[in-house]
Amino acid sequence: MKITDPCTLVIFGAGGNLSRRKLIPALFQLETSARLPDNMVILASSLDQWSREQWLEEVAKMLLAKYPNGIDEKAFERFRSRLYYHQSSLDDPEAYQRLQAMLEETPEFPSNIVFYMAVRPAEFMALIEKLTSVNLLRETRGWRRVVIEKPFGYDLLSAQILQNGLYKHLNEPQIYRIDHYLGKGTVQNVMLFRFANLLLEPLWNRHYIDHVQITHSETLGIEGRADYYEGSGALRDMIQSHLLQLLTIVAMEPPVSISAEHLRDEKVKVLKAIRPIPQNAVHAHAFRGQYASGMVDGKAVPGYLDEAGVAPGSSTETYAALKLFVDNWRWMGVPFYLRTGKRMAENSSAISIRFKTPPQDLLRHTRREPPKPNWILLGIQPNDCLKMEMQVKVPGLDLHTRTVSLDATYHKGGDQDYDAYEGLLLDVMNGDHSLFLRIDEVECAWSTVDPILKVWSMERDFINTYPAGSWGPRGTYRLFDRDDQFWRHSLDTDGGDLHAF
Ligand code: BG6
Repeated sequence: MKITDPCTLVIFGAGGNLSRRKLIPALFQLETSARLPDNMVILASSLDQWSREQWLEEVAKMLLAKYPNGIDEKAFERFRSRLYYHQSSLDDPEAYQRLQAMLEETPEFPSNIVFYMAVRPAEFMALIEKLTSVNLLRETRGWRRVVIEKPFGYDLLSAQILQNGLYKHLNEPQIYRIDHYLGKGTVQNVMLFRFANLLLEPLWNRHYIDHVQITHSETLGIEGRADYYEGSGALRDMIQSHLLQLLTIVAMEPPVSISAEHLRDEKVKVLKAIRPIPQNAVHAHAFRGQYASGMVDGKAVPGYLDEAGVAPGSSTETYAALKLFVDNWRWMGVPFYLRTGKRMAENSSAISIRFKTPPQDLLRHTRREPPKPNWILLGIQPNDCLKMEMQVKVPGLDLHTRTVSLDATYHKGGDQDYDAYEGLLLDVMNGDHSLFLRIDEVECAWSTVDPILKVWSMERDFINTYPAGSWGPRGTYRLFDRDDQFWRHSLDTDGGDLHAF
């Protein structure tokens, strides 16, 4: 990948969770791999009254938390020399004049600028207006790009209002709506797996696939983010964005090319084909839950209601599961089950595709259990992997079957591991929109979840709970169409899958 222009990357909300956990470590990874342009500068902006020296200490702490085994000291020296700090607050009328002066008058700062909005969604517009008020979005000296973090709005209407607001200050090519799941290696691999191989294409449809499961589970709780999470919940936080994006990649038709517009055209077609869920069918298609206290990794952890900042009796969901149908020729009648939860038994993101069983069961007299179907398992994290489960004969005189996994480990020694933000940050600097969301994608995703959000917001008196450290609330099984369907918790052949809690 070639970086053409050096730029100044301004991170608003640099002291916050996203910056600590993801952005600064990703930028450091790029530094270590010598992928940052030589003269690039990173200007952190946040509320804290830090000097540059104090900011550098903060960065060292962030990197230590992410890489407890140590970091490349030479890379850190280079990284430090790029880091600057600017204290600002939306209430301070002079902060943005100081920012403008700093950006335009510091000779080390390249004039192309990326503004990264790692702030609370409610602050996006006010911040953009402040930047306009000091002319920082005008492309008179160099380009200006703005990265908008998710969630893009709280529902369809607010997303449209935000969009109209942005268009008063920015042109579409300047806007990068980020969904960091699109930057994950395996997610891109799903596209390659589907479109760079012919083998599976004839099977990738309603005739052969029984259902698709997309899971994101994490052992973490809300990590002190109650002010954001209380207004969001799992459906907005993970499903409206990341999991629906994964669904589009599994379900989309081959694009005309891998250009940004062609890719996004195909994803939008999938989103438009998702069968709308009427409000009176919400309970048949969606299930929510909230973690109670429990044990995670051998440690007792509090329930959601006892987390700092959570309202007493809150019915915010920390677990959400959906059943969706994509009504088009390829997928008509195939359920897509999506689920996500915090404080679950394991950290795991995976796409599990279950095939139908053969039309005739020739072994029905020699086997006691029902026939086992084939699965394709695409692990996204913690280990990206690709597995295919098949039935073979158990060695011996009897005709018994066993499940084996064809495990296509594609990592080789020396392959560099990246999370997701690394590639996406490079894409913004390169002006490549392919892995960023177009507004019609965002709108369609909101249209899918809005009816559920409406019903859940009216039902505030009760929410199912699940013990922290488990696989979620039991009632979630009612989403399945048949008794032989179950959540696939593990990518191992011995399953860990059958109704395990
Ligand atoms: C973020 C959500 O978008 O994704 C978080 O706001 C969630 O709640 C995170 O923890 C998960 O991302 P990853 O890359 O750690 O799987």
